[in-house]
Amino acid sequence: MGDAMSKKRIAVFVSGGGTNLQALMDAQDKGILHSGEIVLVVASNPTAYALERAAKKGIATAVAWKRELGSQEAFETAISKELEAHKIDLIVLAGFMNILSADFTRQWPERIINVHPALIPSFCGKGMYGLAPHVAALEKGVKVTGATVHFVNEIPDGGRIIAQRAVYVEEGDTPEILQRRVMEQAEWIILPEAVETVCANM
Ligand code: GAR
Repeated sequence: MGDAMSKKRIAVFVSGGGTNLQALMDAQDKGILHSGEIVLVVASNPTAYALERAAKKGIATAVAWKRELGSQEAFETAISKELEAHKIDLIVLAGFMNILSADFTRQWPERIINVHPALIPSFCGKGMYGLAPHVAALEKGVKVTGATVHFVNEIPDGGRIIAQRAVYVEEGDTPEILQRRVMEQAEWIILPEAVETVCANM
């Protein structure tokens, strides 16, 4: 496993800045991610900066914009076409801000991975994305938070946990400061490692 012949074909789904996509591409350059290769980046809107990061690396990109496509069904059909065209084995949600339907996730059992910016089962589920988990963590006054990488099923943030890493909350943290620390100390490390592990075991 892990040789060029058996590399799994990975699609990374993004919506915004794409720092987790960057971490995955860097891990590929360093050989940390070697059992899989990112061959497609799918953005949920045309202005995601992640698209530029992918283009700079020469990775194929696609945009599936629900607002333009009109419905969840049309959105997922557009995505499925791209996945098929690129012969994708594994989907990685890296800051993807759209929920995928049960119809979609059922077609990819333990073949979709997500990174969540909290220690599941804390600060997760519907509405808990982006900055919201960090706002909630600070409101609750927890002293430790972190990130989770998990498989995606029909329950938001409900699939089997693959990896977690804890990060300390510090005096004076704002949601933005905490978000950045969780990314640096947890997400950008555990996501590439988990993707490698999953690809190596597929
Ligand atoms: C990351 O913190 C990621 O964990 C979170 O959004 C941010 C995206 O940043 N994802 C979610 O909340 C999804 N439930 P990025 O675009 O720079 O990778």
